[in-house]
Amino acid sequence: MSDSLSIDDLFDRRLDFPDMGAARRLARLVGIDEAKTRLTKVLGVLVNPAGPREWAEKHHKDASIALDYLERRPPLVILAGDVGTGKTALSETVGDAVARQEKIGVTLYPLSLATRGSGKVGEMTRLLSAAFDATLLAAEKLKRSSGKASGGIIFLVDEADAVTQSRESAQMHHEDRAGVNAFIRGVDRLAEKQLPVAVVLCTNRLSAIDPAVQRRAAEIFDFDRPGDKQRRAVIEDPLTELGFDKTQIDHIVKLTGGEKDAVGYTFSDLTQRLLPTLILDAYPDRPVRFERAVEIIHAMKATPRFRDGKAT
Ligand SMILES: Nc1ncnc2c1ncn2[C@@H]1O[C@H](COP(=O)(O)OP(=O)(O)OP(=O)(O)O)[C@@H](O)[C@H]1O
Ligand SMILES: [Mg+2]
Repeated sequence: MSDSLSIDDLFDRRLDFPDMGAARRLARLVGIDEAKTRLTKVLGVLVNPAGPREWAEKHHKDASIALDYLERRPPLVILAGDVGTGKTALSETVGDAVARQEKIGVTLYPLSLATRGSGKVGEMTRLLSAAFDATLLAAEKLKRSSGKASGGIIFLVDEADAVTQSRESAQMHHEDRAGVNAFIRGVDRLAEKQLPVAVVLCTNRLSAIDPAVQRRAAEIFDFDRPGDKQRRAVIEDPLTELGFDKTQIDHIVKLTGGEKDAVGYTFSDLTQRLLPTLILDAYPDRPVRFERAVEIIHAMKATPRFRDGKAT
């Protein structure tokens, strides 16, 4: 890689919100309404601090201390939890809800996987610093002197473990430690300058994220496998369309929750494996049938749970 890194080298395709495609993807994430709403608010006030000020002007004219605490929160949010639970899908599309709520343009900057570096000494640090520099520059252009930003940025670090794993880890190479430091420095610089940027980290292993990074998180969102209600929310409509009745859907909700000690299905097990498998099994010359669905579920195993680096 050459010395001069362009913004296109550092980030995957940037996406501007509002965006109809993202809105549709976001709407299709069901059963996680609370996380959606809360994350939209948290990111909303980070990329548009003028929002809460306008709100206070209307409802709490004297609330300057409480508002100050809100504004001083670090611009970092962590989405942590099991595989296939919607962390990536939500973080890539929530910008649409933020843009609509705050009535400003929001752009997603997804840190490129290539940016994680080739492992050469100094590489990760250099790339991370360059990514934060580029974001800072773009954000400064958005910040107006009046305080109301003309737009906001979501800086997304998906699969963050490699970038921000704990510096305490014994096997950790010196270079990786420098990478974590570059990340912390980047977040602190954004906070100091009060720029309209929110950093979102996604990880399977919260425990592996450096404590100094965790401490900087304004909020940590925990993602878990879907419970009965959430699995029903995902499969009810598609199975009804395929001709299943309520009792049959109840049965499938129960079966996909895991029998005996088995773990239940993840969201992605339902959407990317089970539903397509039911169709492909029947295609091209039979309709989808309940009895066959039960056989398929018995034969299909849920994705193993992800626990601190080991699939169990
Ligand atoms: N709440 C949900 N409702 C409907 N579908 C969902 C939901 N969560 C996840 N999915 C489906 O599962 C797929 C995988 O989700 P996603 O990639 O966001 O998981 P993840 O939490 O990032 O997993 P990993 O930790 O393995 O990266 C999504 O594309 C979507 O089809
Ligand atoms: Mg993911």
